[in-house]
Amino acid sequence: MRNSLLRTLAALLCLLSVCADVTPMKDFDVTQINGSWYLVGFATNAQWFVNHKAGMKMGITIMVPTEGADLQISYTHLNADGSCWRMSHLANKTETPGHFTFHSKTWDNDNDMIFVDAQYVEYALVYNVKTKDGVSEILNKLFSRTPEVKAVVQQKFQQFSLDNGILPDNIVMLPNNGECPEV
Ligand SMILES: *[C@@H]1O[C@H](CO)[C@@H](O)[C@H](O)[C@H]1NC(C)=O
Ligand SMILES: *[C@@H]1O[C@H](CO)[C@@H](O)[C@H](O)[C@H]1NC(C)=O
Repeated sequence: MRNSLLRTLAALLCLLSVCADVTPMKDFDVTQINGSWYLVGFATNAQWFVNHKAGMKMGITIMVPTEGADLQISYTHLNADGSCWRMSHLANKTETPGHFTFHSKTWDNDNDMIFVDAQYVEYALVYNVKTKDGVSEILNKLFSRTPEVKAVVQQKFQQFSLDNGILPDNIVMLPNNGECPEV
């Protein structure tokens, strides 16, 4: 009870103040995001994640800029039974470089996606706000070009997530996993 109250308060505070201040990185260059990324870190207080985080593993995300500088994003994840989960969508650019929006048909929610920090050959830290039926949830992702991530990058991701009201237990570095066959 007390925990869930605290959680709600943290999320509220976050939505009202800190999180509204999240701004994209300087000099964002969408062409350098191009290519394949390991999804190595995941952080959100969303209940589905809290329920499933223990079993979650790394997936692969491919981001390809379109001619119009939108971002075509494809996710693949190898399931424990060897089957493959795939999803893809277009993230539309906004007037602010590094800030994209999209509607997910799969989850029926509206998404803001902000590139907060990146060393394009190494990692990208992405802040997402998912909104459905007027309720918003924060979800941070850490992408890496390799399955291994430097401690200093992990710390950056953890600190950023804490600053956004994510509980320490809900900031997870995902274990390595096999890859889906290419299609
Ligand atoms: C993205 O990378 C792929 C593979 O390396 C390349 O063929 C493609 O031209 C690149 N696209 C952009 C927009 O940079
Ligand atoms: C996203 O961009 C594409 C291509 O420019 C456009 O066709 C589509 O309508 C846009 N979607 C939204 C939700 O703005």
